[in-house]
Amino acid sequence: MDHPFDAIVVGAGGAGLWAALELAREGVNTAVLTKLYPTRSHTGTAQGGVCAALGNLEEDHWEWHMFDTVKGGDYLVDQDAAEILAREAIETVVELEHMGLPFNRTPDGKIDQRRFGGHTSNYGEGPVRRACFAADRTGHMILQTLYQQCIKHGVKFFDEFQVVDLLFEGGEPDTGGRAAGVVAHRLADGQLHTFRAKAVLLATGGFGRMFRITSNAHSLTGDAVALCYRHGIPLQDTEFFQFHPTGIVGIGILLSEAARGEGGILLNDKGERFMEKYAPKMMDLAPRDMVSRAMYQEIRAGRGIGGKDYVYMDLRHLGRKVIDEKLPDITDFVRVYQGIEPLKEPIPVQPTAHYAMGGIPTNTDSEVVRDDKGTVVPGLFAAGECACVSVHGANRLGTNSLVDLLVFGRRAGRQMARYAGKVERPLPIADAIEPVRAELEAIRSRAAAGESVATIRAELQDVMMDNVGVYREGKLLTEALAKVKELKGRNENVAITDRGSIFNTELMEAQELGYLLDIAHVTVASALARTESRGAHSREDYPERDDKKWLKHTLAYKGKDGPSLRYKQVSITRFEPKPRTY
Ligand code: FUM
Repeated sequence: MDHPFDAIVVGAGGAGLWAALELAREGVNTAVLTKLYPTRSHTGTAQGGVCAALGNLEEDHWEWHMFDTVKGGDYLVDQDAAEILAREAIETVVELEHMGLPFNRTPDGKIDQRRFGGHTSNYGEGPVRRACFAADRTGHMILQTLYQQCIKHGVKFFDEFQVVDLLFEGGEPDTGGRAAGVVAHRLADGQLHTFRAKAVLLATGGFGRMFRITSNAHSLTGDAVALCYRHGIPLQDTEFFQFHPTGIVGIGILLSEAARGEGGILLNDKGERFMEKYAPKMMDLAPRDMVSRAMYQEIRAGRGIGGKDYVYMDLRHLGRKVIDEKLPDITDFVRVYQGIEPLKEPIPVQPTAHYAMGGIPTNTDSEVVRDDKGTVVPGLFAAGECACVSVHGANRLGTNSLVDLLVFGRRAGRQMARYAGKVERPLPIADAIEPVRAELEAIRSRAAAGESVATIRAELQDVMMDNVGVYREGKLLTEALAKVKELKGRNENVAITDRGSIFNTELMEAQELGYLLDIAHVTVASALARTESRGAHSREDYPERDDKKWLKHTLAYKGKDGPSLRYKQVSITRFEPKPRTY
């Protein structure tokens, strides 16, 4: 079945919903496709806050926010984009407030704000209260608020439609083709549908499921990221993957940094507040890459709790009022998953794979670009975690993900509306669904003797976790590269047991595994090539940042035998790189 629209949004998290809202407000006929239900999108799991220099509790300025973002990203941030992020954060948060988002309030009725890692006053003096929050369910509230607005403005939703291919008119992107729509697999009955549109936004989130321990939902398999790569669009900076310091031990579910923003502290086995050593000024509120590394160093030195691979987060001194008003959900997670009462006992925590700084390269209007010169793929847009406008550089600051998806989702919607007003809708493409139909049929009809999705995925997650985690090293990365190649070979023989077409989630998972393998391949190859340590990419064999050689973005193109790497300049407008201490 063919569905003609003017704009299509793939993914119904914060970026997708805000873009759809802008399009609908402009009267553009818009459809949102999601493989889930909109209110189950991963934005809903964002806990601690969305930062904006409102200055409601203490002096703050967008320039300070911009500086923190650039320094937090270890100077790989594109500063023109960071300036937009920090400036527009303020108006997007105020607009959300006007849409009815139930932020926590100060006694005099303003949006309450709290501290978060790496956010400082006066260019690094000390922590500042910049994160606006709705208890520890800020993302959930953003999702509900934007979804309600989309419904009010008549956006059409196609739930449980998984996008499995991108369509282009006039050739592939590298030969100047423009976006023409997508092919989607309806989970309810297995039918393939085409959606044609002038403008297509990719907003499918990250790809943390390539790691064993992650805060990411099962759905975060990098679908649009891998599809772009397969169509010749490069992937930018995927070697930078953030590990959030405080995941629930073993399962990775997030315990928000807001806990430390409210005064929680990290302790080693000797009861020492070890962050004093690693970041004397910011301590537990240093950026995530530094805190995660400090935790590993304590563990390696035998000061993990009971000699094991975790430390404690201590909230006991915060008291019931703070916990109930500001951290209710995460403390419930601790009670449910760990059987611990956070008011009485410290909480075991360990780093969890959390956020992809890299992804589909875009410009500041969220248009996808395909080379180091910023050549736009007409009609194709990306925003949110799947995109890389490079506001996070080598390491994202906490709360900047929500700002990113709001600011650049909104900009995407506005630019898509302008673009859609200028061009004709693409014509139907003959046999558009055939390549995907053949691919899915090959998996479905393969003899059950093939390899299982679960086995290959588990091996991928193990090697990524063990060899491409917080600390990296040439030998381990080389092993990981060989392993990912081996798994890609074995995946050609992947088989499923469900041969049906109704809610065939096994088929969907097989498809997703292919995406994860492609992105893992790019991640490892990019990490192996980058012989320096910067932000979340920490090489034990190259422990220093090397601006002379590596102050540049990676662009990984799909080659015959794997990724082929090129590089592009970082935009530096205000802040020259400096040593990064906290
Ligand atoms: O810790 C948190 O609440 C996560 C926030 C973020 O990733 O920005």
